[in-house]
Amino acid sequence: MRTLKLYGMKVISFLSLMIPLTLASEAPIINPKARFHPVYGTSGMVVTQEAIASQVGANILAEGGNAIDAAVASGFALAVTLPRAGNLAGGGFMVIHLAAEDKTIALDYREMAPADSHREMFLNEAGDVDKKIARYSIKSSGVPGTVAGLLHAQRTYGVLDLETVLSPAIKLARDGFKVSLDLSSSLSSRYERLSSNPASKRYFYKPTGEFYQPGEVLVQKDLAHTLERISRHGRAGFYEGKTAKLIVEEVKILGGLITFADLKNYRVIIREPVCGSFHGDTICAMPPPSSGGVHLIQMLNILEGWDLRSLGHNSAAYIHRLAETMRRAYADRSTYLGDPDFFSVPVDDITDKNYASALRSGISLTKATPSTDVQSGLDIDPETLLIGNTLGDNESSETTHFSTWDQWGNAVSNTTTLNFSYGNGISIPGAGFLMNNEMDDFSAKPGTPNAFGLLGGIANAIEPGKRPLSSMTPSIVFDKTGSPLLVTGSPGGSTIITTVLQTILNVLVFEMGIAEGASVPRVHHQWFPDRLLLESGISRDTLNLLSQMGHNIGEADYVLGDTQSIQRGPKSSLFGVSDPRRPGAAAVAQ
Ligand code: DON
Repeated sequence: MRTLKLYGMKVISFLSLMIPLTLASEAPIINPKARFHPVYGTSGMVVTQEAIASQVGANILAEGGNAIDAAVASGFALAVTLPRAGNLAGGGFMVIHLAAEDKTIALDYREMAPADSHREMFLNEAGDVDKKIARYSIKSSGVPGTVAGLLHAQRTYGVLDLETVLSPAIKLARDGFKVSLDLSSSLSSRYERLSSNPASKRYFYKPTGEFYQPGEVLVQKDLAHTLERISRHGRAGFYEGKTAKLIVEEVKILGGLITFADLKNYRVIIREPVCGSFHGDTICAMPPPSSGGVHLIQMLNILEGWDLRSLGHNSAAYIHRLAETMRRAYADRSTYLGDPDFFSVPVDDITDKNYASALRSGISLTKATPSTDVQSGLDIDPETLLIGNTLGDNESSETTHFSTWDQWGNAVSNTTTLNFSYGNGISIPGAGFLMNNEMDDFSAKPGTPNAFGLLGGIANAIEPGKRPLSSMTPSIVFDKTGSPLLVTGSPGGSTIITTVLQTILNVLVFEMGIAEGASVPRVHHQWFPDRLLLESGISRDTLNLLSQMGHNIGEADYVLGDTQSIQRGPKSSLFGVSDPRRPGAAAVAQ
């Protein structure tokens, strides 16, 4: 029997007699048809790609932190426990829903091109892109944004103090943590590249050169000291003082461009998320300099015009419509997407429902359109969208996603990256962290694809202070009443946007629970190369039908994306799901 304290006296609550009944009717019913099951929670959830980091975030929620505190704590923990993607010297995007204000904001902490960078910096004497320099040299590093971004989010929207939020990451780095099977195997598979950098070799392999085995403890003392400096001095603990000195000195030795001024001038930008509607629900995601939100909304607009549910999930007819839609969106991406502070991205035109109808009516329902016959459907000369002087004197696998949700209804969708797995493989000696190779996300030469096969032009040319175009798509879906329904996002380079698209369609159109929606096979098309990639698990008959329609089928030799999602269930319950595609991830309920 429950008792209530009334005027200091304990009294038996008659209401309490009704509570079991109320609770019984509130308990979510397990779907007897579900083949996949999420983690269930009632007051908070943290989902990341690495189990220890998820627990860190959940503990912060338990200490009274909100979704933003949890996201920042998990973000710093991932820099320790998932070094291939979690980072201090990378960048990312955070979409934050603030329940009390019923407001959603998009925080841009993408890397910036150093002041000394210029449009042709990755071209060799023959005028071709030198991929080695663009991807593996210190010149491939943009000015890091992660520390500024996480600190800005925590200070502005968090409720705990920074010390509390950072202390789990410091402890993990200082005292070490047990290496997972995933980390052990990823470090051994990258030995060649990482061991060619003396600091990386020292940080990620034993002094004998042996690999860390699962269950052994990895200690990162230099990283712990860097995190302590950040905890003590905030932003200045990274962008100034000792950490900055360590970065700039190493960059200089290796012939890079990042200076003290670049670090000091790094700016986080708060942007309006790009939002659209799909059959009455609202989707908000990251605007430029990510292409993610714009093309997610554009593709949903095109797909809204067909009765997808009646086609059946992953039928040939459905996949054909997806592929043709994706092909057209990525054609626009290559011409019109870039950093909006340098190029006036026509966001409203691309996300316009009438434009979507026009693109839809150009799609044959029986035949694939060769990509060579598809150009952007917008008739805007990109030269007219340039902002300022673009000639360089304007002085002005691996990514990871995590989602958090708190008892007050605040939610965070965050994707962060060093670009490649372990970035360019270069660690800063004495500072304990890896550098990004995000400069390869710029279009180093029109017509030459970047590492993800993505094409670009003047909209995404390198300029000092500019942010390279991204595909990261942290997203929040709101139901018809405006309440958050789904928080999701993914790594996967160019496949990020199409992964998030299908995850959202699985939930909104096919009414899958998020566990199933995250698990079923995905497809991907990006205009060029003209190839429809399919994960395993799609039937041979379907592949044959798609081939007969003229699609160039490629079975993906890697998985498409790796979502970390939270879905609101009945009566404000929460369902958390880590994509089963990669090991070691976890959803942890508070
Ligand atoms: O910002 C982007 O779009 C890329 N740098 C993301 C790279 C990535 O997702 C690699 N990991 N899977």
